[in-house]
Amino acid sequence: MLDAVKSPRDVIEEVQSFREELCNTVNVVAKEMALRDRMNSQKVESLCAQIEAWVRNYASLLLRINASRVNHEASVSDHAELIDLRREWGVANARCNLFRVELNQWSLMRDMVHAQVAARKKRVPLYEKRQSAMDKAQVGASDDVFDWLHAILNQERQSTDAYDSGCFPDIALPNSEFHKHLHAAYRVLLAKEQTAEMRFLDVGCGGGLKVLAALRYFKDADGLDFQQSYIDTARGLLERANAHSANAFQADALTFDGYSDYEVIYFYRPIRDQDKIIEMERRIVDLAAPGTLLIAPYSGFDCRYEDLGCGRVAGAVYMAKTSQKKADYWRRRAEQTGVAVVHAEEERVPTIWTPLLTASRQSGYDIERYVQPV
Ligand SMILES: C[S@@+](CC[C@H](N)C(=O)[O-])C[C@H]1O[C@@H](n2cnc3c(N)ncnc32)[C@H](O)[C@@H]1O
Repeated sequence: MLDAVKSPRDVIEEVQSFREELCNTVNVVAKEMALRDRMNSQKVESLCAQIEAWVRNYASLLLRINASRVNHEASVSDHAELIDLRREWGVANARCNLFRVELNQWSLMRDMVHAQVAARKKRVPLYEKRQSAMDKAQVGASDDVFDWLHAILNQERQSTDAYDSGCFPDIALPNSEFHKHLHAAYRVLLAKEQTAEMRFLDVGCGGGLKVLAALRYFKDADGLDFQQSYIDTARGLLERANAHSANAFQADALTFDGYSDYEVIYFYRPIRDQDKIIEMERRIVDLAAPGTLLIAPYSGFDCRYEDLGCGRVAGAVYMAKTSQKKADYWRRRAEQTGVAVVHAEEERVPTIWTPLLTASRQSGYDIERYVQPV
């Protein structure tokens, strides 16, 4: 690579063709990543070793380019010619440096790829079985803080109309519980390769905090509530958070007819009355599209889901109009995904690594942004 650098133009051409070769190799690795457990791990390892060597060689290439530049400039005696030459080398150097910035990200990409190779035959359960005492204490404290926030954000009292209609007031499911269920549902959608369509609905959203939280996982999040003053509060919250892909609207869960618009429907026992809650569950299941993920974290639904024609994926995550066999299949597939909850990023300028990042994120893997201090 670039053994005979003669001019800045040579440098630009060589760097360009090197970049293209690297892009082609990265694309091959990305295609393998997309195969998940069926990837050819040996091929991936050997291509990664090749990329590793290229990245290392690039540092010595830069030294050689610099030496060429010094020699080139020393060979010119005319001042005007020297100025022109420096300008040309300036352009070449800028290209080289931009490419170096891209290449510097390789170590992050390499770790991300290695994690997928190592995990390709393993399964990570959708819910963790054990939690350490320290984790429990920290998560409990964090849940308390969220409960305070929940109370501060929605100071509306339950209306008489809502009470008389059998509604529960805005009582929050603990934040950490909510995230456990969202995370499990998110991984099922990853397994189903349904990442482009991720619409979430909170049936009985109260002040809207769960709708906002769901945006961390899903592209769109809506909430409906019986009580208009809760909806006004939820709208205020979503507006202040600039949550453009979230929406809150007044509706009665017992008559709402838009359940088929969502891939994930969450209902945390909104209704006190036993007959009415069963009526609501039936309506949701009847109107939801087959395979819709239902998050129902309360006792009662766990006894009724089979009669309603749902399969239980795991924990409080169920699948509408789905046999248990099929739900088990999706649980197993979801357990093969990574556990990263990918940030919905704004469009960025694509880099050589974009195909690798895209394929990895679609499988629940991402680069490690935060390195724990030791
Ligand atoms: C237990 S809270 C759940 C709050 C929030 N979803 C959470 O998980 O933190 C129940 C919410 O459901 C709403 N709700 C009750 N009955 C409803 C109905 N028939 N239609 C729509 N919302 C209802 C209540 O107003 C209340 O805000």
